[in-house]
Amino acid sequence: MIKKGIILAGGKGTRMSPLTKAVNKQLLPIYDKPLIFYPLSILMLANIKDILIIVNKGQLNQYQKILPNGKNLGIKISYIEQSKPRGLPDAFVIGEKFIGKSNVSMILGDNFFYGQNLTGQLLENTKLKKGARVVLHKVTKPELFGVAKIDKNNKIISIEEKPKKYLSDLAITGLYFFDNDVVKYAKKLKPSKRGEVEIVDLLNFYKKKKQLTAGLIGRGGAWLDTGSIDDFYKTSSFVSAIENRQGFKIACLEEISLNKKWITKKNINDSIKFYGNCEYSNYLKKLIS
Ligand code: DAU
Repeated sequence: MIKKGIILAGGKGTRMSPLTKAVNKQLLPIYDKPLIFYPLSILMLANIKDILIIVNKGQLNQYQKILPNGKNLGIKISYIEQSKPRGLPDAFVIGEKFIGKSNVSMILGDNFFYGQNLTGQLLENTKLKKGARVVLHKVTKPELFGVAKIDKNNKIISIEEKPKKYLSDLAITGLYFFDNDVVKYAKKLKPSKRGEVEIVDLLNFYKKKKQLTAGLIGRGGAWLDTGSIDDFYKTSSFVSAIENRQGFKIACLEEISLNKKWITKKNINDSIKFYGNCEYSNYLKKLIS
């Protein structure tokens, strides 16, 4: 079982300037909570309780104000600063000590997942012992993402980062599961033309060894990447529509922990005090009433 997870939550955020001049993108709101809550909730739903958040140099205290150490969620959160955005696989180099001898999952701080069978699928993925696993989702503009071509048995035939020529309409989402070799492979990577080490190059090490597998999120599930200002509004509308219709919150971290019995009502009360008088606290009050 994979028990450790990394959230990569740094990045330049230039596409969202001036919003991101003072505040990191992952702390901006998606409807009623900071973006980072959503990828964190995904790791928690996958029963991953030991979490490393990688943030930009100088932005650590912004994050620690909202997610200090995970104690009140019954999980462990630690942080590392990335001095500059050297690329996604850099997470496994700077996270080497955290990873130790374990297998590890990584989620990008700007990825949003929602859907009926999601939790079951997540738990299935954490069973990975050897190799690497990516999660794919059909999109209309594959040229904006890492893309995978698969055969009839869902085996990956080829992968490419932001292909100019059509390869497939299956995007590689920002949720990955790796065995411990990922650290060794990440260290071998050389920066590409755009000056970053590339996740696709890392995945290709596994593909060459026939150790790269794929899971698919079908049309009943949603994967949204919040790369632009427009995406922020669209994802916020999505969350607002679902939450207001059902009365359930998406990515309420305390609710996930309480359901998993990682915390007690006392922790929820502490969270209510911490957040103060707000709609999120009212939701927490209802959970324990
Ligand atoms: O969202 C899925 C896509 O994410 C994948 O389909 C692509 O294969 C993958 O390369 C990535 O593409 P993006 O263009 O969206 O990556 P971006 O550079 O925007 O970084 C994604 C997140 O990771 C973002 O929240 C910033 C953070 N980041 C990025 C880099 C390169 C870091 O914290 N450090 C980094 O060095």
